[in-house]
Amino acid sequence: MKRFLSGITPSGDGSLHIGNYLGAVRQFISLSRDNEAFLMIADLHALTTIRDKKRLEHNVEELVRNELALLMGTLGGELPNITFFRQSDVPAHTELQSILNNVTPLGLVKRAHAYKDKLEKESAEEDINLGLFNYPVLMAADILLYQTDFVPVGKDQKQHIEITRDIAGRFNKTFCKKIFKLPEPYIPEEVSVIMGTDGKRKMSKSLGNIISIFEPEEVIRKQVMETYTDPARIHATDLGHIAGNMVFRYLEFFGTKQKVDELKEAYKKGQVADVEVKNYLYASLLKTFAPAREKYHALANNPEAVREILQEGARKANAVASRTMVEARRTIGLSNAYSCPSGSSYTPVPSERQNQGLTPVTPVTLAEFARMEIRVGKVIEASNKEGSEKLIRLVVDVGETKPRIIFTGVRGFGYTPEDFAGKQFLFITNLAPRKMMGEESQGMILAVDGNERPRGEHDAKKPVFITAEGMPLGAKVR
Ligand code: ADP
Ligand code: TRP
Repeated sequence: MKRFLSGITPSGDGSLHIGNYLGAVRQFISLSRDNEAFLMIADLHALTTIRDKKRLEHNVEELVRNELALLMGTLGGELPNITFFRQSDVPAHTELQSILNNVTPLGLVKRAHAYKDKLEKESAEEDINLGLFNYPVLMAADILLYQTDFVPVGKDQKQHIEITRDIAGRFNKTFCKKIFKLPEPYIPEEVSVIMGTDGKRKMSKSLGNIISIFEPEEVIRKQVMETYTDPARIHATDLGHIAGNMVFRYLEFFGTKQKVDELKEAYKKGQVADVEVKNYLYASLLKTFAPAREKYHALANNPEAVREILQEGARKANAVASRTMVEARRTIGLSNAYSCPSGSSYTPVPSERQNQGLTPVTPVTLAEFARMEIRVGKVIEASNKEGSEKLIRLVVDVGETKPRIIFTGVRGFGYTPEDFAGKQFLFITNLAPRKMMGEESQGMILAVDGNERPRGEHDAKKPVFITAEGMPLGAKVR
């Protein structure tokens, strides 16, 4: 599974239009089916232009509802593979930006379009704030923290991904270590820019040429009716043109192919009125967005559910970001003999484990624990996995017709296959299978953190496996 990250800035009024949907959110949805998604509300980015507390609060809330409604409305009410979070809930974004500033040449940022455009069109240098100037570095931090493979964005953001790659490459080279993965942009050509209802410029909130998704039906109808078609056509019987006709352009995405083809033919021959085509677009839009519109109202009426999603998102995002930060801090020399783990905002658990060259762990929450199915299993066979320094391969009978293969990565703690063979332990049995070294691991052996055991019993860092000796094989413990 590859990982991607994308963000939307809560600018304008925080609501999304069909250009945002086609150019961004639709890709998030389809990509999240086979990839691990990190989707972020880029509230820190909005600070470059919004300096009004009420407006920022409103925009973030609106964007959260808009994006969640589209995601959940399309994905059957769930967010599989998606970590949905607010940028400012993960302090590592600003910390990494601060670190990256030091390997970023001024010239690289000066060439960024957002800054250059602003300078050319609107403002003198004195009026441009450092936040806007430095926006690409914050965006680089957003992306690099999560070791993302690719970044789906609109064409207008391509340069920011190039800058991100440049900064990541410079950092890795400067410190002679591959700390950051270089991300690829993901920009499908056919949706890279959706033109607005004026048919002239990119669809954009600030230009007032949008079709909304969550506005009342009358508003959407009006936007559709005002959409640019074929200016040379005055009567329904005039021969019409399809090229540049925005109603047909939008229908490519929202209509059914057969019906759209029929309408195109009729339009070209002067056999159908504009209003009829527009009515079809209006109906198609409402049909496409019906589940999302319903979800939008459900979310608006249930702030607690939204808060829970954001909290869970922040927890997961922080866990991943912390791992990168621990590495980055160590690599540049911010960790030293006097560093105390508790002095950092990053949990001591990952850094201690990382000191031993082990993969960092994040403790599970009670809510996650409550979802686990745990069974008694007997290890029929245990062996070191060839080609791995950590994995022990267990063949486990959990009372099903076939035994399961379950890996545990604990050789680094001194565990050997003999510690498991022939013995009974507790296993988590309702996890999705996970590919490890070419084989699927079909569960997990339950371990607890050994930190609270007295030193001497083990080295106080070793996970402890819970014995299930004498318990009935396959019994469901919870
Ligand atoms: P707006 O320009 O309306 O303010 P944003 O800049 O907030 O929209 O864009 C949010 C996301 O939607 C970005 O990924 C951006 O690339 C994409 N996007 C915005 N407008 C369009 C458009 N007209 N066509 C395609 N994608 C768009
Ligand atoms: N700058 C992006 C925009 O205006 C939003 C954004 C912020 C983003 N951080 C990101 C997009 C990281 C992709 C990845 O649309």
